Amino acid sequence: MSVLVTGAAGFIGMHTIKALLERDEQVIGIDNINDYYDPALKYARLAQINNDTNFYFEKVDFSKQTSLNFLNKKHPEIDRIIHLGAQAGVRYSIDHPNQYVQSNLCGQLNILEFCRSKMITPHTLKNFIYASSSSVYGSNTKIPFSENDNTDRPVSFYGATKKAGEIMAQSYSHLYQIPSIGLRFFTVYGPWGRPDMSPYIFTKSILNDLPIRVFNEGQMMRDFTFIEDIVSGIIGALDTPPKTLNETPPHRIYNLGNNKPVSLMEYINVIEKACKKKAIIDLQPMQPGDVIKTYANTRESEQALGYAPTTSIDVGIPKFVDWYLSYHS
Ligand SMILES: NC(=O)c1ccc[n+]([C@@H]2O[C@H](COP(=O)([O-])OP(=O)(O)OC[C@H]3O[C@@H](n4cnc5c(N)ncnc54)[C@H](O)[C@@H]3O)[C@@H](O)[C@H]2O)c1
Repeated sequence: MSVLVTGAAGFIGMHTIKALLERDEQVIGIDNINDYYDPALKYARLAQINNDTNFYFEKVDFSKQTSLNFLNKKHPEIDRIIHLGAQAGVRYSIDHPNQYVQSNLCGQLNILEFCRSKMITPHTLKNFIYASSSSVYGSNTKIPFSENDNTDRPVSFYGATKKAGEIMAQSYSHLYQIPSIGLRFFTVYGPWGRPDMSPYIFTKSILNDLPIRVFNEGQMMRDFTFIEDIVSGIIGALDTPPKTLNETPPHRIYNLGNNKPVSLMEYINVIEKACKKKAIIDLQPMQPGDVIKTYANTRESEQALGYAPTTSIDVGIPKFVDWYLSYHS
C-alpha cells in the first residue's frame, strides 16, 4: 500500500511527504520541477526526503494526457492519492492563464482519470485528497468564509481554476464513487516556503534594506496558516475517507485555515522583529486579483478531520526567518 503525492518538490508536498515517511508510509512522489520559481529550491526540498528508502520520486508532467499511464504498471500498490501539484500564484495567473489551464484543469482531469482507473474492480483507491484554495471565495464579504458560502465569483483566474477543480472532482466522485476531499488552504507559510509569497518576499527585502510593496495601503487581513498545521489537516483528511450519504457522492470540501486573521501591518511587524530590522514600506494601491480579507471558518474540518491549528504568527514567522537565514547562508 502506498500514497501517491503530486507536487512532491513543492512547499506543501515536501512537508506532507516528510510527515507520511515519519509514520512509515511508502510514498511515490511526482513533480515536473517547473521553473515558476527557482528549481534549485525544489531540488533542495527533495534532498530532505530523497534518502528515505520508502520514498520513490519520478519527474512527470501530469498535465500531459498519457503521463500517468506508467503508474498502474509500476506502482499498482498505490491506494491513496494526495494531489498538491498545481500552477499556484494569484498575480501570475493574470498574465499566464494558459499555464493554469494546463496544470490545474488538464492536470486535474488526468489525475481524476487515474483515480477512475483505480475504481475499476478490484476497487483499490481508498481516498483522493486534492488542494483547493481560499481564492475560490473571491470577493465574498461574509466572514468567516464557510464551506457552504457561494463561490461562484472568483476574482482571479487562479481562483477560477481551483473552483473548476472542485466541480470536476464532484462530477467524478458522483460518476465513479471516488472517495474525495478538497482542502481549501488559507495562505500557508513556514520553512521551505515559496519565494513568490509575502513571508519570503518581505523577509528578503527587509534583510537586504530594500523597500517592501504593501498593497491596498496595508488595509488587508490574511488568515496565515503554519505549514505543520496544514500537514496535520492533510493527514487527517487522508485518514478519513468520506462515504456516500443518501444520494450525496463521497466528496467533501473543507477549509484549512488558522481561524485568526491578522492585519498586514501587524504581520510585517512580526517579520521585522524576527529579522531584527525595520522594513522600508512602499504603500501601493490594491492589485487586480487580490482580496481584502481571508478568514476561515474551520468548524467543519475540526469536527470531521480533527483539524486543530495551534501556531500563531508569533511562533511561525520566527521559524520561517530562521530557515530563510540558514538556507541562504
Ligand atoms: N501555499 C499556499 O499558501 C496555498 C494556498 C492555497 C492553495 N494552495 C495549493 O496547494 C498546492 C501546493 O501549493 P504549494 O504552495 O506547495 O506550491 P508549490 O508551487 O511550491 O508546489 C506545487 C508543485 O507542483 C509542481 N507542478 C506544477 N505543475 C505541475 C505539472 N503539470 N506536473 C507535475 N508537477 C507540477 C511544481 O513544480 C511545484 O513543485 C497547490 O495546489 C496550490 O494551488 C497553496
